[in-house]
Amino acid sequence: MLTGLTGFLPKKEKFNSKRRNRKMDRIDNIRNVLFPESFIFYFVNRGACGNLLLLFKLAFTRNPAEQTNQTDMQSFLDLVQHRQSDRAYQDKPVEAEKIERILEAARLAPSACNSQPWKFIVVTDPEKRLQVADATSSKLLSMNHFTKQAPVQLVVLEENGNFTSSVGGWITHKHYPHIDIGIVAAHISLAAADEGLGSCIVGWCDEKKVQKALDIPKNKRVMMVILLGYSAQPFREKKRKTKEEIVSYNQY
Ligand SMILES: Cc1cc2nc3c(=O)[nH]c(=O)nc-3n(C[C@H](O)[C@H](O)[C@H](O)COP(=O)(O)O)c2cc1C
Repeated sequence: MLTGLTGFLPKKEKFNSKRRNRKMDRIDNIRNVLFPESFIFYFVNRGACGNLLLLFKLAFTRNPAEQTNQTDMQSFLDLVQHRQSDRAYQDKPVEAEKIERILEAARLAPSACNSQPWKFIVVTDPEKRLQVADATSSKLLSMNHFTKQAPVQLVVLEENGNFTSSVGGWITHKHYPHIDIGIVAAHISLAAADEGLGSCIVGWCDEKKVQKALDIPKNKRVMMVILLGYSAQPFREKKRKTKEEIVSYNQY
């Protein structure tokens, strides 16, 4: 019941998970002080007054379904729905703590054989940002003109996979680092949404220009640039294939 209250919070508040968690902790604390288990049982065994308190307790207790992963999954789906590729940003810096938490979400991403074949360069310097923006856009093709607006660019580099991931990839004909980097990009963009930030994964880029701008060795691949910043775009509905088109059970 109490978690249902978050449904009434405005979007910004809703996705400011730290604030929300603090609020929930406070509610939990009050509940536990007012209605500790032993207190309840004492009164339950002593008639009407106990029963009245039990009713209060039930009213204030999150129902069992809400205590399971169901609640987490519900809010995770909300987060997934609210993440979108933002292509316009406010002229407002991003707090360093937010960037740190996003990087932590990236660091904790899974990868084949735990190989973690990535490195991230955080670009905030205005001059370097312009150079990276230039490398990720094209006037001729009218591509990605918005990249210069984002106050933060996360440049995602591919590093060598570890031995087991490389051998596994050789046997299965898969290049696991590319899969790993796709996953880390999802962690980054979802973590950004959780921080109330907009993001856009930009795969189209002139790698050589980015290497030059950021002193990246020529043998390191620039896989993508993820833009971060306060979005200047409204939320839009997702355009996606239907479940019937993409899911089947037990056979193709
Ligand atoms: C690997 C990858 C590369 C992408 N490159 C670009 C890009 O260069 N420019 C751009 O505007 N969007 C880019 N996108 C964003 C996609 O266009 C976007 O995710 C897709 O249209 C779905 O929209 P949504 O993210 O708003 O849900 C890229 C996304 C991925 C995953």
